[in-house]
Amino acid sequence: MSKVLILYGTRYGTTKGISDEIEKIIQQKGITTKSYNLEEYNIKEIPPVQEYDGIIIGSGIKIKRWTKAVKKFVNKRKSELRKMQSTLGFYVCCGVAAKKMI
Ligand SMILES: Cc1cc2nc3c(=O)[nH]c(=O)nc-3n(C[C@H](O)[C@H](O)[C@H](O)COP(=O)(O)O)c2cc1C
Repeated sequence: MSKVLILYGTRYGTTKGISDEIEKIIQQKGITTKSYNLEEYNIKEIPPVQEYDGIIIGSGIKIKRWTKAVKKFVNKRKSELRKMQSTLGFYVCCGVAAKKMI
């Protein structure tokens, strides 16, 4: 059975909503998931990424920056992430002002 780890950081809740939707879709495919809001956990509490077949990391963006918790996780675990044999996906929730076309 495949296992996917979902990690996210959110300031206003959007990234949690998107992560929950992603998790539902993955589970519908019969894949086991574990999800952590990185704002609520110490990095030491997050299991080793090698235990998973796929990792998805999401962050909200504020003034062009990821959340501190996501940045900290990626920095602290970067050697582990680099060695991963499994799939790594990254997404952001952001809002970019559209140019006025007419
Ligand atoms: C104060 C503030 C600053 C923001 N800065 C950016 C930004 O620099 N770039 C961007 O694309 N979106 C920006 N956004 C839009 C957010 O990224 C967007 O609302 C996102 O869904 C927030 O995710 P969250 O609810 O998970 O925190 C900003 C929103 C706020 C409220």
